[in-house]
Amino acid sequence: PAATLAPDAVSPGLAPDALPASLSSLPPDFVWGTATASYQIEGSVTAGGRTPSIWDTYSHTPGRVHDGDHGDVADDHFLRYREDVALMKDLGLQAYRFSIAWPRITPHVTADSLGPVSEEGLDFYSRLLDELLAAGITPAATLYHWDLPQALEDAGGWPARATAERFAEYAGLVAARLGDRIDSFITLNEPWCSAYLGYGSGVHAPGRTDHADALAAVHHLNLAHGLATTAIRAERPDAQVGVTLNLAWVRPADADSPADVAAAHRIDGLQNRVFLDPMLDGTYPQDILDATSSVTDWSFVHDGDLAAIHQPLDFVGVNYYSPTVVRAYDGVGLREEADGHGDGAVSAWPACEDIEFPAQPGPYTDMGWSIDARGMSELLLRMHREHPGLDLYVTENGSAFPDHVQPDGSVQDDDRISYLRDHIEAVAHAVREGAPVRGYYVWSFLDNFEWARGYTKRFGIVRVNYETQERTPKASAHWYAGLIGEHTAKD
Ligand code: NOJ
Repeated sequence: PAATLAPDAVSPGLAPDALPASLSSLPPDFVWGTATASYQIEGSVTAGGRTPSIWDTYSHTPGRVHDGDHGDVADDHFLRYREDVALMKDLGLQAYRFSIAWPRITPHVTADSLGPVSEEGLDFYSRLLDELLAAGITPAATLYHWDLPQALEDAGGWPARATAERFAEYAGLVAARLGDRIDSFITLNEPWCSAYLGYGSGVHAPGRTDHADALAAVHHLNLAHGLATTAIRAERPDAQVGVTLNLAWVRPADADSPADVAAAHRIDGLQNRVFLDPMLDGTYPQDILDATSSVTDWSFVHDGDLAAIHQPLDFVGVNYYSPTVVRAYDGVGLREEADGHGDGAVSAWPACEDIEFPAQPGPYTDMGWSIDARGMSELLLRMHREHPGLDLYVTENGSAFPDHVQPDGSVQDDDRISYLRDHIEAVAHAVREGAPVRGYYVWSFLDNFEWARGYTKRFGIVRVNYETQERTPKASAHWYAGLIGEHTAKD
């Protein structure tokens, strides 16, 4: 069996079930939740006339996903959502971030039109929302967590402008039909992954490998976000609208090396600023336009696009897992690829052939990702410094470990508890320093389909037995429930 981390590897000296020391520094109305995404948990991929997404196609293409795993059944959440919401309620979870599968809502979308709406598709989310609200759990709906309708990919995918336009219409439709019960909308989840892993390295769907396409995808995802924000507000002027970004805490391998510092700045530009700047300031970073000029001339940016992207936002969601360390690569020896994302091989990055990602110190999660909670505070404080007054949420944070089921059926995942505690401490630290962080969502509620890694990587605080679909809250779920109870008792 794979080795698990000793509990004290992460938080030396703390009892495995100790709560974060600084919990009390978080405001009483701080929101505690968990997150999932449609393709990773739902299954029932043809129910109600749902058509394939790029992840259905990709996962059914031999060689793409570990062990040939796919989301046909996944956690069977489409059929078991009531039981899942009941379990959330039992655990005292206050909020639930889920995503809506676009191909369930408009299964016959084309580049030219949304096509007919699937009432059955809408009905699933309508029932889920009712169930959540009845359980006293606040929903936060992500409109795009990577399951692009395959027909739109066939028409050009995210490198094509029409995808952004149709996305905005779909967002407006969801706001009109379900918005009476959704106060918090997240337009996109981690557009970095959609663009660079989907169209650059090809380790995510749709599996294309062209850096010019990846950058065109970046722009059209930004545009999709801006147009969708406007469309949601037209239907629901009082809704909270934001976006979730996987911001990277980027550091140069050697802070005294100008080449490493420049390399880190470029990665910061390609991962952080190329999304933050247009969304929050209405500009593209000039250094990134320059650095990528041999890849693309950015002529896909039309007059008016930056104004469309730059919409007032109610919050930014930050997903953080692991740090990123960057070094200039001189072409000598093997280029190192430990980039802190696990599945973001160096080939994801446009115009970065002279950059490498050196191995980082342990401990590591089961993804091979280096654990360093400091990045959590650093990112939240950076957002606070650069965009003062903008509310922040941690919309994902968590860890995969090879959880072992004990003879009595329980799962004692002390390594996950340590990880969560250290990162929640880091959030509390950022709040003490002034960062307006309003809530925290553990990734993930359930073990689920971990994209190219299939079902081998378990992120859940609730274990899923994929043979029986039985759910077992792990020790981390009980610990998190205790933390929520402790924090609310202080109110
Ligand atoms: C980010 C993604 O949003 C989510 O889908 C994924 O499972 C986790 N990170 C873990 O890799």
